[in-house]
Amino acid sequence: MRPTFYLTTPIYYVNDVPHIGHAYTTVAADLLARYKRMKGFDVFFLTGSDEHGQKVEKAAQTNGETPLELADRVVKRFQSLWQKLGVSNNDFIRTTQERHKLGVTKIFRQLMEQGDIYLGEYEDWYCTPCETFWTETQVAEGKCPDCNRPVEKLKEESYFFRMSAYTERLLAYIEDNPDFIQPKNRRNEIISFVKEGLRDLSVSRTSFSWGIPVPGNERHVIYVWFDALTNYLTALGYPDKEGNYGRYWPADVHLIGKDILRFHTVYWPTFLMAAGLPIPKKVFAHGWWTVEGQKMSKSLQNVVEPNMLIDKYGVDVVRYFLMREVPFGLDGDFSHSSLINRINSDLANDLGNLLSRSTAMLAKYFNGILPDAANLSDLDTALKQKTENMLSVVDNCMDELAFSKALQSIWEVISAGNKYIDETAPWAMAKDPSKKEQLGTVMYCLLESQRLIHSVLSPFMPDTSRKALGFLGWEQEPDADNLKWGLLSAGTVIEKAEALFPRIDTKE
Ligand code: ME8
Ligand code: MG
Repeated sequence: MRPTFYLTTPIYYVNDVPHIGHAYTTVAADLLARYKRMKGFDVFFLTGSDEHGQKVEKAAQTNGETPLELADRVVKRFQSLWQKLGVSNNDFIRTTQERHKLGVTKIFRQLMEQGDIYLGEYEDWYCTPCETFWTETQVAEGKCPDCNRPVEKLKEESYFFRMSAYTERLLAYIEDNPDFIQPKNRRNEIISFVKEGLRDLSVSRTSFSWGIPVPGNERHVIYVWFDALTNYLTALGYPDKEGNYGRYWPADVHLIGKDILRFHTVYWPTFLMAAGLPIPKKVFAHGWWTVEGQKMSKSLQNVVEPNMLIDKYGVDVVRYFLMREVPFGLDGDFSHSSLINRINSDLANDLGNLLSRSTAMLAKYFNGILPDAANLSDLDTALKQKTENMLSVVDNCMDELAFSKALQSIWEVISAGNKYIDETAPWAMAKDPSKKEQLGTVMYCLLESQRLIHSVLSPFMPDTSRKALGFLGWEQEPDADNLKWGLLSAGTVIEKAEALFPRIDTKE
C-alpha cells in the first residue's frame, strides 16, 4: 500500500474576498500535494470555507441577503480562483454542509455527555472581528491585543470546554513531538503560553444564531472555532472509519498563517484529546504578507487581487513568486518591482534562456536529434552530479517545507547549466569535426539536466513544466522512477524552444 499524506489549508472566512494572503497558503499546500503525489504518496489535499459566525451574519445583514446567499456567492470566488491557480485539492469542505454539521454535533454531544463540556456563565471582553474572547489583563485600553480594534464586554450563559484539564497532556504532547509545531520560534511561543495554564474555553454563543445549534439546547450555537477546526475531520467522513477518515487521519500537516496558530496548536489538539482522537502530526505557521510595506486592508484599498496578477503575468509566475520570494515561515512583502525582477532575472534570463539556448544549439549542430552521451569529461560529470545532488536537496527541503530553499537549489543548477555552456563553448567544438562526440555529450548533459530541472519544477509551475518537457520530447509525467539521470534517450527529437517567459519592460 502507498503511504498516505493528508494536508490542509485553513478554511477561509466568506466575509472577505480572496487575496494573495489566501492564495499563498493554498499554493504552498498545492505544491506540497503535487510533490508528494509525484513521489508516489496517496495524497488527500483539503481546502474549504468557514461560513458560520457573527461576522458572516453581520456582513449578510449589511448586504441585505441571507448568510447562506452571501456564502454561496463568495465561495464561488474562492473556488474559481483556486481553479485558475491550478490548485489540485481533492475536496472542498463548506461548514454549512450536512456532512460537516453532523460530525460537529456528534463530537460536541460526546464531550457534553462525558462532562468535558458543561453549562456555565461567561463575562469577558470579546473582539467580534477576531471572534475571540480576552481576559481583563489581556485587553489593553479596551483594545483587542491581536488586531487593536475595540472590544466589548459580553455576559452570557455559555457552554464551556474543560480545556484547563488538558494543560499537562498538551504540554507533554508538544514536548514529546518536537515537529508538531513549526517553525521553532512559534513552538516556543506556544509552550510559554500553555505553561501559564489553560482556562476553560467558552464554546457556545447565544448572542447570534448563524451557526450549528448546540445539541439539546437550540438557544445556543456552537462557537465558530469549534465548528471550523472540526472540518479537518468531517471532510474525511468522520466518524466513518471505513472511508477516508480511517485512511487519512491524523493529518500529516495543517498549513496555516501565524494568525491562527493558537487555535490549531492549543484548542484543536485539546478538543481531539477530549474526544479520544489522534492528534495531527504537524502544524506549520507561515509568515504574513504586507504590500509595498503596508498591511493589506480593505480600507487602504491595497489588497492584492490574485486574478489580476494571473491575467497580467500568468499563473506560474504568481506561483513561483509567492514561493520563491520569502522563506516559508517568515514575513514577506509584495511589491511590483520585486515581482518583475523575479520574472526578468530568474524566469526569463536564467530558466527560459537556458532552454532556448540549448535547444537552439541542438537544432543547429544535430538537427534537433539528441545524440548519445559518450565519455563524460570533468565538466560534464560536474553538471550531472550537481543535478543529481539537487534532487535530494529538494527532497529534504520539501520535508521541511522550505519551499524557497528548494527553488534556490534548483536555480543553482540552472546557473550551473548556463555556466557550463560558457565553459564548454559548444560553438568552438562545432568547428572541429574530431570533437563531434564530445559536443554530443555536452548537448546530452545539458538537456538531460533540464529534463530533471523541469520535472522537479512541475509541482511549482505545472504549466511551464509541461511545456518545457514537451520541447524536450519527454512525454511521461514526472514520478519517483523517472527522477533519475540518463533516461532521456538518444534519438529523441527535441524542438527549438520558444521563450518560456517574456521579459517585462521595466519602463512600463
Ligand atoms: O482565520 N499573509 O480565516 P481567514 C499571509 N476561518 N497569509 C494570509 C494573509 C496575509 N496577509 N491574510 C490571510 C480564518 N492569510 C478561519 C480559519 S481554519 C479551521 C479556520 C491566510 O479567512 C493565512 O493562511 O481569516 C491565514 O491563516 C488565513 O489566510 C486566515 O484566513
Ligand atoms: Mg483572518
